[in-house]
Amino acid sequence: MIRSTHNGSSNQSLFALEGLSFEAELSLQRLTPRLTDFWDSQDVTPELRREFELRLEHYWPELFELLFDLYGTRYDFFYHLEQILLTAAATWANRPETLREVDRHRVNEPDWFQSEKIVGGALYVDLFSENLGKLRESIDYFKQLGLTYLHLMPLFAVRPGDNDGGYAISNYRSVDPRLGTIEDLRLLADELRAVGITLVLDFVFNHTSDDHYWAQQAQAGNREYQQFYYIFPDRTQPDQYERTLREIFPTVRRGNFTWHDGMQQWVWTTFNSFQWDLNYSNPAVFRAMAEEMFFLAQTGVDILRLDAIAFIWKEMGTDCENQPNAHKLVRAFNRLTRIATPGLLFKSEAIVHPDEVVRYIGEDRCQISYNPTLMALLWESLATRQVRLLTKSLSHRHQLPKHTAWVNYLRCHDDIGWTFDDADAASLGINAFDHRQFLNAFYTGQYEGSFARGIPFQANPDTGDMRIAGTMASLAGLEQAVEQEDAHGTEMAIRRIMLLQGVTLSIGGIPLLYLGEEWGMLNDYDFVKDPAKAADTRWVHRPKMRWEFLQELNGHVEEGVNSIRSRIFLLLQKMISVRKSLPALAGQQMELVRVNNPHLLSFVRVNTGHRLIVIGNFSEQAQTFDGNHLRTAGLGRFFEDALTGESYPTSSTLQLEPYQILWLSRV
Ligand code: GLC
Ligand code: GLC
Repeated sequence: MIRSTHNGSSNQSLFALEGLSFEAELSLQRLTPRLTDFWDSQDVTPELRREFELRLEHYWPELFELLFDLYGTRYDFFYHLEQILLTAAATWANRPETLREVDRHRVNEPDWFQSEKIVGGALYVDLFSENLGKLRESIDYFKQLGLTYLHLMPLFAVRPGDNDGGYAISNYRSVDPRLGTIEDLRLLADELRAVGITLVLDFVFNHTSDDHYWAQQAQAGNREYQQFYYIFPDRTQPDQYERTLREIFPTVRRGNFTWHDGMQQWVWTTFNSFQWDLNYSNPAVFRAMAEEMFFLAQTGVDILRLDAIAFIWKEMGTDCENQPNAHKLVRAFNRLTRIATPGLLFKSEAIVHPDEVVRYIGEDRCQISYNPTLMALLWESLATRQVRLLTKSLSHRHQLPKHTAWVNYLRCHDDIGWTFDDADAASLGINAFDHRQFLNAFYTGQYEGSFARGIPFQANPDTGDMRIAGTMASLAGLEQAVEQEDAHGTEMAIRRIMLLQGVTLSIGGIPLLYLGEEWGMLNDYDFVKDPAKAADTRWVHRPKMRWEFLQELNGHVEEGVNSIRSRIFLLLQKMISVRKSLPALAGQQMELVRVNNPHLLSFVRVNTGHRLIVIGNFSEQAQTFDGNHLRTAGLGRFFEDALTGESYPTSSTLQLEPYQILWLSRV
């Protein structure tokens, strides 16, 4: 076998041919005495130790190969390898027994998150309930809505002033004191687990805040910590990198580097200038972040959302996104969790080209992923009233490897970017650049006749790029209709909202609401009054929860009246509970139904003998659907809409009301 001390990717194929199994095994043998010392110092049963060792034997060769590939030429490789292994062992040894139980259960049931019963919600702790203590009192609310999965936006200690909505973390091991303590987080995790709600937290691993301990040490001139980041004495290298980089936040600062006055050096800052990108070419960074990850795992979190995953590896001459080594890093983190915290899952946050999004998904990387392509194309379909780009994309992009799932969402705390594939568009004769310009004009309300009230995010004058901010309801037409006291417009807006929810709740994967959607919350323009938020238009769609809506709802239910918000809440609540009653909606398998109507999206969901046909009308005109299509797709003659209870015989043509969605099962 050919050996090389060079770590270049050209040698990868040579290693891949024979693998590194001998080297992996020998290294493990050499490390075993250290592990033995560790276990001997611990008060753990032989069974517990054996469980760890079995998983280690299984995953070690791959973990070793990944880390060797990334760091094998580094002078301190073996030191970090040893530390990583000991950290993994300590994590298992100290893992609360309740979490070990969850681990064992999930190893045996790797599809636990594919259930039709799973429905997610995402929220900011401070905006929703002030703090973690009060959030515990909201568990009934989540149950009332039907949520079984909760993503709490970053709640860790942050820098003072602007902290990018919590994504500028100064300490991964402490909770923002305004929200509570780590102990509060543990209590919340326990309570959520007790009622069957999965907890999702961010693992913001691409960057730290500029006031994180490591960054402070770097600023103080500590060389060890300067190597945790990308720091440059002059513009030579930044300029070279810059030639092939995109700008993510061009209105914050041009380029990807920030001059630091104190250090008199340039720092790589992909996002805001106070978010310093970590240097994963340094094994010390991988090791340190693995330790932070395990700390989080021990609080009782079920799923870690890998924030800004596409950016974690930099390679001169590339756009430094989606690099092969970024995937190796994710796999290495994943293999570590298999060994030490096997119940923990990863969720990918890659808001990039659809071909790249899917590459982060796998049992050996992120088991679940945001589905930004579906999200963007649902909004695209609403704007165009046509589903051809959406169906084109779904026809070859929905399928995922087994034991993985999409997270289907409509809005989140971030902007909407039109990340569809240009070639998908071209195949339909759509010019992608022009189409994005149209969508931006449409969703900012500039386009004649648009119902939307979005606002621009990160418009880049050089490239013409722009993304869209705005709440679901404001983008779907509710803000405009309410302002114009337009009853018909209001009705249409509510229907658009329910149409989109009806798709994400049925198409396969985990549906995820961004809380506030359930009330049709409108844009909140007051963010401009807060200097720490004014420059970031995403705050327009991050409103505070209004608990009086819930009181109003309760009053309304008694009096039999319905405000717009109560209606949206009740419709959504109903849809969620119907989803949970339909086993056909479990899993990921989905097949499109060919229909000769450009406004109708139709697909079949099949699971363990259950079958559901979904038909959605993306136009504000009534549409018809041939009964024969339904008969052949649904394998039956009489159907019932699970949402309304209406019957649909296939002997006649089906009528769909404007924006109506049907969930049809055979009767
Ligand atoms: C992710 C977050 C976004 C944040 C960025 C930097 O994309 O979702 O809110 O600004 O990462 O952390
Ligand atoms: C993400 C995405 C970008 C998104 C941003 C948050 O990581 O790549 O498109 O808009 O960060 O705003």
